[in-house]
Amino acid sequence: RTVLRTLGGATLLSLAGGIGVFVYVTQKDRHPGTQLPYDPAKKTIVILGSGWGATSLLKTLDTSEYNVVIISPKNYFLFTPLLPSVAVGTLSPKAILQPTRYLARHKARAVTVIEAEAKEIDPFNKTVTFEDDTEIKGEVSHTTIPYDYLVHAVGAEVQTFGIPGVQEKACFMKELADAEIMQRRFKDCIESAAFPGQDDTEIDRLLHIVIVGGGPTGIEVSGEIHDFLEDDLKAWYPELAGRIRISLVEALPSVLPMFSKQLIEYTESTFKESKIDILTKTMVKEVKDKSVVLQMPDKSIKEVPCGMVVWAGGNKGRKITQDLMAKYPSVQTNRRGLSVDDHLRLAGADGSIFAIGDCTSTSYAPTAQVASQQGAYLARVFAQMAKKTTLEEKLNQMEGSIPTVTNAEAKDRLSSEIEATKKSIANIKFRPFYYSHQGSLAYIGSDKAIADLPFANGNIASAGVATFLFWRSAYLSTLFSLRNRTLVANDWIITKIFGRDLSRD
Ligand code: FAD
Ligand code: NAI
Repeated sequence: RTVLRTLGGATLLSLAGGIGVFVYVTQKDRHPGTQLPYDPAKKTIVILGSGWGATSLLKTLDTSEYNVVIISPKNYFLFTPLLPSVAVGTLSPKAILQPTRYLARHKARAVTVIEAEAKEIDPFNKTVTFEDDTEIKGEVSHTTIPYDYLVHAVGAEVQTFGIPGVQEKACFMKELADAEIMQRRFKDCIESAAFPGQDDTEIDRLLHIVIVGGGPTGIEVSGEIHDFLEDDLKAWYPELAGRIRISLVEALPSVLPMFSKQLIEYTESTFKESKIDILTKTMVKEVKDKSVVLQMPDKSIKEVPCGMVVWAGGNKGRKITQDLMAKYPSVQTNRRGLSVDDHLRLAGADGSIFAIGDCTSTSYAPTAQVASQQGAYLARVFAQMAKKTTLEEKLNQMEGSIPTVTNAEAKDRLSSEIEATKKSIANIKFRPFYYSHQGSLAYIGSDKAIADLPFANGNIASAGVATFLFWRSAYLSTLFSLRNRTLVANDWIITKIFGRDLSRD
């Protein structure tokens, strides 16, 4: 009994401690302290974007050394890995958003957050022009500001290859709005199929969902739609659920080319069990109102009726990125994006522009992992640059004061201090960016995930339900704030207990 009482006491104590820490952290988060004001003597960094690269940079950057302005048409950071879960209502949109101002408000020096789209970069006069593209505009909605350093982190947009109908008729899976549109259309397909008097052919068309692109986005969207079907729709639309068909169309010979062979096979067999048809070596040629036109492996053309097309065909550079490339036509020739040197400086520019993430054309895959490591790397580079500038100013001051020092002993002291400062400056080495791959993870539906994890000099491939739990815990811990972690964990529990919401707003 004494042991039980002691254990009970200890449990209560640690619970109370845990709640205390939670309350302290959340309250501290909600009531940030005062910040240093704008300092005209400091250099100004303008960051374009509020995605993975930009947010990681802002999070790591020591703003006491710089004035920072962040410009993005979205005033939040979007946690893209969980976007497909929002598309089927497993998670609510707010759970995977973090307002940029939350992060900015906790920096040492006040950061200016501007909700606007950068329209033009003038690298020769070092200015950025941006515009408020939202519905409500004030008297001023277009302006130009100067920068000392510019960080271009605007990501990429969806690549449609100019295929007819894709832009107008397909859903995408890139922005938050895309996930919301997909959810609405999917539910609309089901309700329209349930409309009285609908004939069998039309029901089958409405309930055929075509996903284009066998990269990780297409795979995850297929898996999430399958879960929605199995976990919820079967119960609420018993007469229709069995007729829902999911087809995944991929132009290449296999899906997920970035994963190891065994994980590709595992995904294919899981999809087979889940009754998701994978059509490889099949290319979408056109998206029509009620069908999709496919070029089959034997090059024949087939028109397949469907209710909805989700397009996950890859990335292409945004206009602002293409315009910046056009300023350096002899150097910026890679169509995949901006060329940078191994310190992430824009090739051809004077060293004041850096580019990170999906807008660049490096040897790395366009992933959140790469963008966030590049952002954190740049923060360290900026810290080193600030340190170097401070030491150089100190050196200049000391060298300037030599003629005024007459005392021999003081002169010796000054000389040795000058030598030490020169040494410190020489010791500041700007190392090139080094990418440390932490592995690739993807959710494939049915509470299963796949993972290629680096181990020793090779890779460990893992798949299944345990990998799914690892996938969940990895992304839960990667979320940038305690608030998001709490919201995501809460939504997972709610979905498990009550299922997903069926209402269509
Ligand atoms: P983004 O994160 O896209 O950020 C770009 C920012 O620039 C945005 O804030 C945007 O609003 C802003 N912007 C756009 N135009 C302008 C403009 N003109 N002026 C100013 N700002 C502008 N990667 C992984 O490593 N793991 C995953 O599990 C994973 N899952 C994914 C799931 C989905 C559905 C998707 C779509 C992608 C996923 N990725 C994943 C890839 C990852 O999201 C990208 O590689 C990552 O977002 C790139 O970061 P970024 O900072 O370059 O661009
Ligand atoms: P992707 O470029 O990886 O895949 C697009 C696929 O669409 C390609 O395989 C391409 O062959 C196919 N395709 C293009 N046009 C087609 C057509 N007309 N018909 C049929 N197929 C066509 O794009 P995705 O999946 O959006 O990923 C983009 C980036 O984001 C990648 O670097 C990826 O690694 C990363 N990402 C990572 C995730 C993860 O790690 N879990 C999840 C989602 C994205």
